[in-house]
Amino acid sequence: MIQINELTKIYKLTKKQMIEQKTKKDLKRAVDNLSLVAKPGEIYGLLGPNGAGKTTALRCIATLLKPTEGNIVVSGFDTVKESEKVRKKIGFLTNEIKLDPQFSPKYMFEFFGKLHKVDDKLIEERREKLFSYFEITDFQDKKIEELSTGMKQKASIAVSLVHDPEVIIFDEPTNGLDIVTARNVTDYLKLLKEQGKTVIISTHIMTEAEKLCDKIGIIINGSKVSEGSLEEILNRTGTRDLEDAFFELYKIHNKEEE
Ligand SMILES: Nc1ncnc2c1ncn2[C@@H]1O[C@H](COP(=O)(O)OP(=O)(O)O)[C@@H](O)[C@H]1O
Ligand SMILES: [Mg+2]
Repeated sequence: MIQINELTKIYKLTKKQMIEQKTKKDLKRAVDNLSLVAKPGEIYGLLGPNGAGKTTALRCIATLLKPTEGNIVVSGFDTVKESEKVRKKIGFLTNEIKLDPQFSPKYMFEFFGKLHKVDDKLIEERREKLFSYFEITDFQDKKIEELSTGMKQKASIAVSLVHDPEVIIFDEPTNGLDIVTARNVTDYLKLLKEQGKTVIISTHIMTEAEKLCDKIGIIINGSKVSEGSLEEILNRTGTRDLEDAFFELYKIHNKEEE
């Protein structure tokens, strides 16, 4: 279970960032008063365009960033006061943290397994299962830098699951993957959900949210502008697909920023 309670995250921008982001303000409200609940046996999708605040929100859940305001509870533990306990419960995947390119998938899997104090036999069992599922086995002894984008991503996913976490936090898990590999990944997320795990992902891909997520939170400029099942969001916006729903909401909410 993940409970986000009125999360706000404000970044202090450097001069360089102010120029890059074409702003005169030195504070960026990346996440603005966001609340949500993701439950066991459910895939929650944070859907939003680039810069909406998805990665920031997920990094806060994963204890890598501290909320400016609000708090987050993961499996009953506070992400700031009990960050160690939260870290044991979560598997986190992001585009920004890459596996060390010098090492092999097998080595990284075993390394993170030991870091999480997983027993050696269990590490081997899980490696065999996950590597076989993601078809990494034939590449497991190659250097990560030699692997294709898809294979690297699948290796990262396998490594993030070495300790069999009950809460899965995946930031754009299918980003840059071909459709076959992407399907392999989303099918695995469904398996995790069926095992009763709490899964939260971010995505900017409408069809992925439509097909995969039990609950969708649409986030624009750091704020949640709609939330519910696909059907609920479509009914509320009077639209026939998520892309239309998104643009309806975008028309209304993107103006507020200016
Ligand atoms: N470390 C940071 N310092 C300053 N601004 C940041 C930082 N990380 C992200 N931002 C800004 O916060 C906003 C939200 O970013 P992010 O959470 O990465 O969005 P998303 O993942 O939805 O694309 C963007 O405007 C981005 O430029
Ligand atoms: Mg992001």
